[in-house]
Amino acid sequence: GGATPAGRDGRAPGAGQPGTLTRERAVVMTMGALHDGHLQLVRAARERVGPAGQVVVTVFVNPLQFGPDEDLDRYPRDLDADVTLLAGLPEPAPGRPAVDVVFAPSVEEMYPGGDPIVRVTSGRIGTVLEGAFRPGHFDGVLTVVLKLLHLTRPDVAFFGEKDAQQLLAIRRMVADLNVDVEVVGVPIVRDDDGLALSSRNAYLSAAERADALTLSRALRAGAAAAAAGRGAASAVEVASGMLNEHPGVVVDYLALVDPTTVDDLEPEYVGPALLLVAARVGTTRLIDNLAVDVA
Ligand code: PAJ
Repeated sequence: GGATPAGRDGRAPGAGQPGTLTRERAVVMTMGALHDGHLQLVRAARERVGPAGQVVVTVFVNPLQFGPDEDLDRYPRDLDADVTLLAGLPEPAPGRPAVDVVFAPSVEEMYPGGDPIVRVTSGRIGTVLEGAFRPGHFDGVLTVVLKLLHLTRPDVAFFGEKDAQQLLAIRRMVADLNVDVEVVGVPIVRDDDGLALSSRNAYLSAAERADALTLSRALRAGAAAAAAGRGAASAVEVASGMLNEHPGVVVDYLALVDPTTVDDLEPEYVGPALLLVAARVGTTRLIDNLAVDVA
C-alpha cells in the first residue's frame, strides 16, 4: 500500500448538511500477524463508529521500536493473511465492510530519509519495567504512533490492555502533546487456557506453550491473594513463587504498580493496582498483566 493519508471526507460533515449523522473515523494500529486480540480491537472500533463510520487498520512492523538483539527480522509478516482475516469480519450493515482501509506502508514510505532525527521521548515511563529491558522501545512506539495518527487522522484510536505500559505511554503522549484523538483501551483477549493472545505465541513449541501458561496462572493467583486481604506485597510473592517453580520460565520483571503511573506501590497500599509480568520462555519473550483490587 502507498503512504497516501486516508481522505478526510468521512469526518463530521460541515454546516448545510442537516440531518446527516456525524461519521467518526477509528484507527486500530498493529504490526500484523493478526489474531483474535487484534480483531477484538477492530470489533470495538466498528462498534464505536457504527456502520456509517470509518475503520482504518494499520499494519506496519516498526523497526524503530525493536532493539538490535530483538526479533525484527523474524517477526511474522503475512499481509495477505491479515487482509483475509479482516475481510472475514461480519459486515456492520449489508454491503459495508467491517474495515474500510488497511494502511500497510513500507519502511521506506514511513522513514524515507532513514531513521527520523526528531522523535517522541517517553520519559520515565520509557525507562521502567518493559522500558528497562527494552531501551528506546517506547520512544520508537510513540514516534510511530504519532506518525500513524497524523497519517490516518482518526477521531478515536483503539489499543489493547495487553500492552498496558504502551497504552499508558500513548495516553500520556496524547495528553502531554495535546494530540486531538480519543484513546480507548480494550481488555486482553485470552485463549481458553488463559494464555494472552500474542503474535509471538507463534514462536512457542508445545512444551514452551505449557510453560507460558504459568504467566497468567501466576497473575491470577497473585491477584487473588492481594484481593483476599493478604496485602499488596502478597501479589508479587505468590506470583513469583509460582513462576519460580518453572525453570523454563525466566522472569524479566514482576511488579505490582499504580495503574495510571506504573509507579511502585507501598506494601500498605490498598486500592486498584496492576500486576505486570514479562518473562522469556525459550527464546520467546512474553508479557501479561492483570488488574488487582488490593483489599
Ligand atoms: P501489536 O503487538 O501488533 O499490537 C497491536 C494492538 O493489538 C496493540 O494495541 C495491542 O495491545 C493489541 N493486542 C495485542 N494482543 C492483544 C490481546 N491478546 N488482547 C487485546 N489486545 C491485544 O502494539 C503494537 O503492535 C505496536 O507497538 C504498535 C502500537 C502497532 C506500534 O507499532
